[in-house]
Amino acid sequence: MRIILSTGILSLLVAVSGFSDNSVRRFKDGFLFGAASAAYQVEGAWNEDGKGRSIWDDHFHSDPDQGPAPGDVASDSYHNYKRDVEMLRELGVDVYRFSISWPRVLPRGFSNVKNEPGLKYYDNLIDELLKYNIQPMVTIYHFDLPVVLQHLGGWANPYSVEWFEDYARVLFDRYARKVKYWITVNQPNSVCEVENYENHLARSTKGVMDYMCAKNLLLAHARTYRMYEKEYKKKYGGSIGISISVNWAEPVTNSTENVEAAEIYREFKYGMYLNPIWSKSGDFPKLVKDRVAKKSKEQGFARSRLQSLSKDDIKLIKGSADFLGLNHYTTFLTSPSKGSHPVPSFADDVSVDVTTKDEWTQSHSAWLKSAPYGLYKACLHLNKHYDYPAIFITENGWSTDKGLKDSSRSEYIQQYLKALLFAIEDGTQALGYTHWSLMDNVEWMAGTSERFGLYEVDFDSPERTRTARQSALVYKRIIQKRMVEERWTPKNLKISVSEVKTEL
Ligand code: GAL
Repeated sequence: MRIILSTGILSLLVAVSGFSDNSVRRFKDGFLFGAASAAYQVEGAWNEDGKGRSIWDDHFHSDPDQGPAPGDVASDSYHNYKRDVEMLRELGVDVYRFSISWPRVLPRGFSNVKNEPGLKYYDNLIDELLKYNIQPMVTIYHFDLPVVLQHLGGWANPYSVEWFEDYARVLFDRYARKVKYWITVNQPNSVCEVENYENHLARSTKGVMDYMCAKNLLLAHARTYRMYEKEYKKKYGGSIGISISVNWAEPVTNSTENVEAAEIYREFKYGMYLNPIWSKSGDFPKLVKDRVAKKSKEQGFARSRLQSLSKDDIKLIKGSADFLGLNHYTTFLTSPSKGSHPVPSFADDVSVDVTTKDEWTQSHSAWLKSAPYGLYKACLHLNKHYDYPAIFITENGWSTDKGLKDSSRSEYIQQYLKALLFAIEDGTQALGYTHWSLMDNVEWMAGTSERFGLYEVDFDSPERTRTARQSALVYKRIIQKRMVEERWTPKNLKISVSEVKTEL
């Protein structure tokens, strides 16, 4: 009997064990390297030049005794964008992923009132990037909804589909000539999980608003994709996708119930967004539809809390992305929930507990441990279930405390990029990678205590001085060589702008 070991299994063995063979794997020439950030997390200037308030400004300013909010100044990129671009040049990247603040350009949420200084800020940033041959990749929405729209129910309001479309049109009209990479929404799966909200109002909508939001965000995304496809794509030749959080999940042991828990977890956490766009049949996953319908009935609801998508909705959403923006950080091990959850709630619908392995290196964020093989497995899962989608890794990153010697981040980058090379070898169509993040920023509820930057930001200095960490040099070297040299460390922390920049 012949025993055939597929490249997949071999690669996986290598990826899991960290064991390296002698062959050199390289990133192809067209593969784009970059770094990422998001408006609320870096811009600051929260009430300058006519900007409106976002839900995050409001959240942090709701208690008048609390003092300034972390995002009031943040990394002050609003005033430091030239230095940001200089840092990107030092790294030698091809692309910068940043987001546009909706309330900065449309302070009242709707497109009738445009804020010219806000629009001008992004003109300046885009021009500065293009001047140095760095492609802008624009995320249209990264968590910072104008607060006026939240007062109308935010993403639970079916009209949010139109508000978003109108906002996106303003951006396309202004920037589509120069911007070739667009992302409609960052992590709809995080935006819609009511568990993520702290306030009482949100808590009382658990298990209901999550699904209203999911449907509306998918429609908002798809309508915007179709608008771009029809009116801008041919003219300017760009591409547009959506970024979804896909952390790998697998059973803690191979018992039937743990295996089932992994599937439930994956389908609820990201299948809900992947299936409607990338599966052959479209629509929400059957597992999710059946489970929510059953629970809703048991709970006395007249109909499923997950509203159905119509035939037209399914058609509109199916295939509405040129690439899948993959945000991947870590891996979780699943088993059926032992405790109870509020009823109804998304957590109760899922009813899966997650854990991790003790031996995985811990970052400075409680939820984030390093398990690079998970990226390999996530990519293969996507290939199998969604027929080899084009993938752009729009986020992958590591948190530390303050300090420039961040060998744990260097190792994380090396290991995850190595896992990506194996995934590419086994068929993954990877277009590029933007590391999260270019610089330290406001890590949402954690403020500035969890540092994700290749560059350290001194939040105590009025200038928000930026300094390259060791990992910035390690990443620069990978970009230069287009390969991962696992034991490479820089001799010192000096970094300067790369002289030679290849034409894109
Ligand atoms: C992502 C999010 C980013 C950043 C990162 C690190 O989920 O899109 O804004 O905060 O996590 O936690």
